[in-house]
Amino acid sequence: MKKLNVGIVGYGFMGRAHYNAYRKVNNFFDLKHQPVLKAACARSADNAKAFADKWGYESVETDWRKLIARDDIDLIDICTPNNTHAEIAIAAAQAGKMILCEKPLALNAKEAEKMVAAVEKAKVPNMVWYNYRRCPAVVLAKQLIDEGKLGRIFHYRAKFLQDWTIDPDLPQGGAGLWRLDVKAAGSGVTGDLLAHCIDTAMWLNGTIDKVNAMTETFVKERKHNLTGKIEKVGIDDACAFLARFTNGSLATFESTRYARGHKALYTFEINGEHASIFWDLHDLHRLQYFDHRDEGRVRGWRNIHVSDGDQPYMKNWWVPGLQIGYEHSFVHQVADFLQGLANDQPAKPDFKDGLATDYVTDAVLQSAKNGQWEKVKKVK
Ligand SMILES: NC(=O)c1ccc[n+]([C@@H]2O[C@H](COP(=O)([O-])OP(=O)(O)OC[C@H]3O[C@@H](n4cnc5c(N)ncnc54)[C@H](O)[C@@H]3O)[C@@H](O)[C@H]2O)c1
Repeated sequence: MKKLNVGIVGYGFMGRAHYNAYRKVNNFFDLKHQPVLKAACARSADNAKAFADKWGYESVETDWRKLIARDDIDLIDICTPNNTHAEIAIAAAQAGKMILCEKPLALNAKEAEKMVAAVEKAKVPNMVWYNYRRCPAVVLAKQLIDEGKLGRIFHYRAKFLQDWTIDPDLPQGGAGLWRLDVKAAGSGVTGDLLAHCIDTAMWLNGTIDKVNAMTETFVKERKHNLTGKIEKVGIDDACAFLARFTNGSLATFESTRYARGHKALYTFEINGEHASIFWDLHDLHRLQYFDHRDEGRVRGWRNIHVSDGDQPYMKNWWVPGLQIGYEHSFVHQVADFLQGLANDQPAKPDFKDGLATDYVTDAVLQSAKNGQWEKVKKVK
């Protein structure tokens, strides 16, 4: 196996999810490459060292520029807040490194365009961590749609609901709360949560032609952890938008962090001419499927437990009937990336796909401002 030296920036939620994936991938997938946990980068040397010791990284860096400059690093993995993605990715591309970048690709499409230009110029393999494409039940949905089982698609309905920012005393900014700070996050639920829904939607149902959105910021001011002052909140707390897909289907998307009782309720339902499918992140190993062509007496929603060897990715795991979870979507993403490298068929979503999603989120935010339908820019 060819060694692939990974340098990772950030050790938070996603840092852990990715490290875990690099460590496990060769145990479960037969691949031609083996990720080596070469260096972990964090701004605090103590934190970086503690983290590297716990996860088995060989070395630490406290400045991502030094990490990128190292000759022994092949791949840079960006697991830091959104406002850092562009600068790190562009520098990594210029240094000829492969790049795996967390989502959303950038703060906005303008930045994302520069990132696409940089990886294209450098011709370096690149991918964005829209990991829900790698849940076996979501891949099964993709297979059913591509096989024409649903027929013409009429409706796409997606939601991503949470409830963790309702308290007006919750500050914004800094560690753990950068998502509430527009300078670090770029937007609120639109770039954070709806970006996932949009990426899955365009993968399953093609490009989005236009959108009409509304957003709200329920808590207008919060203390900023970095300045200590009460500051205006610049993110959208909630967003709902209508969309028309290029294939003519109609869509509704909704996201909020103000839906009491919901922690990460990402669901989508697709209604076609012959059949419908429904998926729920809280039950991610199941796909619900209704086929009108079934015999009438037994027709009904099937609740498919996606755990059998002939279902996507599952032959690599346990025996039929035993399900896998959230972290496995990241293992699958690394496996697909490495397979793509070996076969010279780059895995998706790449930076161009990330830009396509950023074009949609930009149009959504623009429409929410001007109250009009916005045409979505297409990736060239
Ligand atoms: N794919 C997914 O499902 C998913 C889920 C959560 C987060 N994300 C994305 O992952 C990224 C990180 O989110 P998170 O939840 O892991 O955040 P987090 O707050 O848990 O971790 C962020 C990490 O970045 C580090 N960091 C910040 N600025 C840095 C800098 N300049 N140099 C080095 N390190 C720096 C922090 O110390 C921390 O270790 C974001 O872009 C987010 O949108 C994706």
